[in-house]
Amino acid sequence: MKVAKTLGQFIIEKQADHPYAKGELSRLLRDIGIAAKIVNREINKAGLMDNIGEAETMNVQGEQQKKMDIYANEQFISALQSGGECCIVISEENNEYINIEGEISKDAKYIVAIDPLDGSSNIDVNVSVGTIFSVYRRKSPEGKVTPDEILQKGVEQVAAGYLIYGSSTMLVYTTGKGVNGFTLDPSIGEFCLSHPNMRIPEDGIIYSINEGYYTHFPDGVKKYIKYCQVEDKPTSRPYTSRYIGSMIADMHRNIILGGIYIYPVTASAPNGKLRLVYECNPMAFIVEQAGGKASNGYQRILDLEVTELHQRTAIFIGSKNMVEKAEEMMAFFSPQQKKKTFEGDIVIQ
Ligand code: AHG
Ligand code: MN
Ligand code: MN
Repeated sequence: MKVAKTLGQFIIEKQADHPYAKGELSRLLRDIGIAAKIVNREINKAGLMDNIGEAETMNVQGEQQKKMDIYANEQFISALQSGGECCIVISEENNEYINIEGEISKDAKYIVAIDPLDGSSNIDVNVSVGTIFSVYRRKSPEGKVTPDEILQKGVEQVAAGYLIYGSSTMLVYTTGKGVNGFTLDPSIGEFCLSHPNMRIPEDGIIYSINEGYYTHFPDGVKKYIKYCQVEDKPTSRPYTSRYIGSMIADMHRNIILGGIYIYPVTASAPNGKLRLVYECNPMAFIVEQAGGKASNGYQRILDLEVTELHQRTAIFIGSKNMVEKAEEMMAFFSPQQKKKTFEGDIVIQ
């Protein structure tokens, strides 16, 4: 019988590929895996315990926090703190970055950005949610952390990953050498390698976007949606529309089957809704490592300047050829220099 490799075994094996690595990044990934199991256990009890529904607090973005947003945030921060390899945490749920340097993490080299619970509005209705994380190396090995260490571009990530709490629970991550997926075997409490070397198909037939906001989309996005809906046998159109409302769930499916996920600028989100540091950059790194593409419609996500912790961006991410087609539509129908102000409906011919 074939025995599955556990996440711990896989990490140790990969570390051996880098003879000078001291194992710090491996330990950091292990810490994230531990917190994920605790969060997973709690999510599995949603509805049984008093852990669903709204908390009484708002996050910095003025969004109502769910009880599980707060619980997941605490678990990841606490695991990173006791693990000792991380000095700074940037979280969707905290206004400022958190310095967790202490006795154990005196010389910690890593900065972690995290969306502790992605798609949290889905948790009360038993729909998949996720966690997204991104890892940066400190630029100066010691002393006070500087702003340019906190606001690094996506291209500087050393690792990124996500957890999906779905029909099964999975951890998918990259350290810049491809993407591997691990499924949690609840009977032994271990993540086991189930999806080695994940590759996103270059073409897909799924598009994921909240079409409810259609009238407020830029013309380039409207044209791309129409392109997806037109009958054309050679390119397998019309495509299929799938939108769960948890970016992780939509993206996980699209990585496996091929597809594009779009969250453009809209009237109510003139800079896009999703956050660059802890949602878009990690997903862009993973998708690129799997052979796909991620863009803001004009430019590669990983090259965008980061000026604020909670900065937002539009995102077009997924199968390479689908993202390129959407970018083509954006360049033609919504050239950047026009810089539309999204007030009211946009009329297209
Ligand atoms: P979060 O729960 O971390 O705030 O993220 C929710 C995000 C993303 O996961 C999802 O695809 C999107 O918001 C849904 O937004 P709309 O409801 O506006 O479509
Ligand atoms: Mn999110
Ligand atoms: Mn979240």
